[in-house]
Amino acid sequence: MTVTQPAAASRAAQILSRPTSINGLTVPNRIVMAPMTRMFSPGGVPGEDVVSYYSRRAGAGVGLVVTEGTYVGHESAGQSDRVPRFHGEEQLAGWAKVADAVHAAGGAIVPQLWHIGMVRQQGQPPFAEAPAVGPSGLRIGADEATGRAMTRADLDDVIGAFAEAAADAERIGFDGVEIHGAHGYLVDQFLWEGTNRRTDAYGGDPVARTKFGAEIVAAVREKVSADFPVIFRYSQWKQEAYDARLAESPQELEAILAPLAAAGVDAFHASTRRYWVPEFDGSDLNLAGWTKKLTGKPTITVGSVGLDGEFLGAFVGQGSALKGIDDLLDRLEAEEFDFVAVGRALLQDPEWAAKVLDGRFGELAAYDAASLKTLS
Ligand SMILES: Cc1cc2nc3c(=O)[nH]c(=O)nc-3n(C[C@H](O)[C@H](O)[C@H](O)COP(=O)(O)O)c2cc1C
Repeated sequence: MTVTQPAAASRAAQILSRPTSINGLTVPNRIVMAPMTRMFSPGGVPGEDVVSYYSRRAGAGVGLVVTEGTYVGHESAGQSDRVPRFHGEEQLAGWAKVADAVHAAGGAIVPQLWHIGMVRQQGQPPFAEAPAVGPSGLRIGADEATGRAMTRADLDDVIGAFAEAAADAERIGFDGVEIHGAHGYLVDQFLWEGTNRRTDAYGGDPVARTKFGAEIVAAVREKVSADFPVIFRYSQWKQEAYDARLAESPQELEAILAPLAAAGVDAFHASTRRYWVPEFDGSDLNLAGWTKKLTGKPTITVGSVGLDGEFLGAFVGQGSALKGIDDLLDRLEAEEFDFVAVGRALLQDPEWAAKVLDGRFGELAAYDAASLKTLS
């Protein structure tokens, strides 16, 4: 049976269009737009083109939009003047329009709050003089510090910046926040022993390495309403180290996830490059599946959903869109995870979600990296 047959098409519609909730937020269906940095926000201000980029996708079937990573209000958080910022009057006014438009289109939306940590190259905007900071001042793969190992004051400032951004998100009308704890950026630099060599309470075993992330979650939780969803995105892989792993076993994973859940995470977004790859030996569960099993929280899976043909970029996909979707439905139905995030396929085709929900699989186009260049 293939999903091009009517029965499978209606099965897709049936499974994907079931609403479900995250801490009281009802998401109209299971399709999430994955966070994707686009660099179309000069001065860090999302403009009208960004408003229509997101609302167009929400209007075409995306249930929950996770915005591109947006810098929290700390001078070392980023290194581009075209990445939207989540602080400053003009920037937040731009974001408020994005949230309003997505709601008007029928979707839910959360900003992805981001601090890049040691990925920053000093001298880059928006705050050129700001140093690169991280748990131990180490870039991925480096043995010598090139940045500042964060002081107590740095830790407090960054934790405060995340909390402030979350409070602003609630104030200007977003439905929740996602904390970017993935891919080798600041929060993940603490989680991973490759970049965290601290000997204080924030380094050492997995629980200690999770302390910084958990303190961010707790500070965010304190600044927002009890029913304001807090999502935490994490990954094993790093942007500059695809084979890196935070956890080699479910036990190690639990040591990281339990403190985050206890601090107030409402849902986890488990980032993998191919969603169908089993995470640990002896089980078919993927990372989102294990996360749900270990925490009992709603989870979002992601990774090469809906890509077809060959794509030789950073995230090489395998297999066809149709195989992926079919397998995905089985896993959703088995409640291995609750949501599926879609990245590149939604860049390629803003109508991707609507087509899948309608069973119009024949209208799906293969991913072409040229879609990275435009914001349509
Ligand atoms: C252009 C681009 C920008 C991305 N930016 C972010 C980002 O800001 N934050 C993040 O957590 N992941 C980011 N990612 C990763 C995606 O969210 C997603 O996990 C990845 O693309 C795999 O999903 P896909 O195969 O459906 O594209 C980005 C990916 C792409 C292609």
